[in-house]
Amino acid sequence: MWRMKPQANWRHFAVAGESEPTPGYVGRSPLPYPESWYLLIPSAELGTGKVATRRLMGQDVVVYRTTSGHVRAVRAHCPHLGAHLGHGTVQGENIVCPFHHFAYDANGAIAHVGPGYTDKPKHCTLPVLHCQETNGGIFAWAGANSPSWTIPEFLTSHHTPARYITYDVPTHPQEVLENGADIRHVLLLHGYSAASQPAVLEGHILSQDLDLIRPIRPLPPLKLRAEIQHHGLGFSTIRINIAALGLEQRILVSPRPVEPWRVHMAIGASIRLTPPYGREAALVQRAFKATGRAMHPLVYRLLMREVNSDFQIWSSKKYTNPPRIAAGEGPIGPFRKWARQFYPEQPVKLWNDVNDAH
Ligand code: FES
Ligand SMILES: [Fe+2]
Repeated sequence: MWRMKPQANWRHFAVAGESEPTPGYVGRSPLPYPESWYLLIPSAELGTGKVATRRLMGQDVVVYRTTSGHVRAVRAHCPHLGAHLGHGTVQGENIVCPFHHFAYDANGAIAHVGPGYTDKPKHCTLPVLHCQETNGGIFAWAGANSPSWTIPEFLTSHHTPARYITYDVPTHPQEVLENGADIRHVLLLHGYSAASQPAVLEGHILSQDLDLIRPIRPLPPLKLRAEIQHHGLGFSTIRINIAALGLEQRILVSPRPVEPWRVHMAIGASIRLTPPYGREAALVQRAFKATGRAMHPLVYRLLMREVNSDFQIWSSKKYTNPPRIAAGEGPIGPFRKWARQFYPEQPVKLWNDVNDAH
């Protein structure tokens, strides 16, 4: 005879994992999307004729490389009947929709319609984003207006080649960049004593130099100089000069907002040997030259060990506004004032298209 089994295990109903800190916000954000350049995809991931899809400000963006090597970033959905162009193909300089084979040119205009069509539908234009390929990456402009500035070359070719690693973190671009202004955490979270020069604000650029000392007992403490430059809230460069070791590390950070409180944070790094050559520096440089690129992942791993502790903080913190700042905390106030310029009155949209529900 069939019998109901007694409840085998009451533990089944136990609540698990409640001690884990949760993200500061889920599906919403106290800060809107900032207008900036963001790294969409490393150049190495988009060969000739390739099509890829990336997320930016709650939208899919399709990025492709034409036969002649140009890169374009476009709205993901075809303006004809809405197919996703991430399934499309590149033909010459055009992207071709997989559904009815309309081909769109560099400006998003229909180059030709699919076989069997006799004319082009009216008002059928594919919105295109401004793009810049530099620093081993493809950067797209997300803004209410066209960009009035571009981003500079920073990871130059005489360094070890730039390699990007991307992390998914529940936070916001402004929170990521504020890290540089918060000099107390550099000691208390990362273990470096730090002194900051005043931040210099010039339009869309904020520059800040830090003198850092890292105790590495029993060796003498390591002195570093970090020159930080933010170009908007989506492109940040850090040049770290370790004179004693004859090394310069260059780090590029681009936190791309994919959702209201979530970024895909790309970190690119490269190394360069620098004069002056002291005795230790000569040893390090010899090792570096002998091992060549093999040294790069090691330096990368050391860098990421530092950033991991930031990830833990960012991925569960709240945005405090106004910030309750104590004396000697670094230029957090000036940073926040400077950051305001990237939030135009009109909310930042990727494109003003009637078919986009934001
Ligand atoms: S939906 Fe793209 S061509 Fe028809
Ligand atoms: Fe940090």
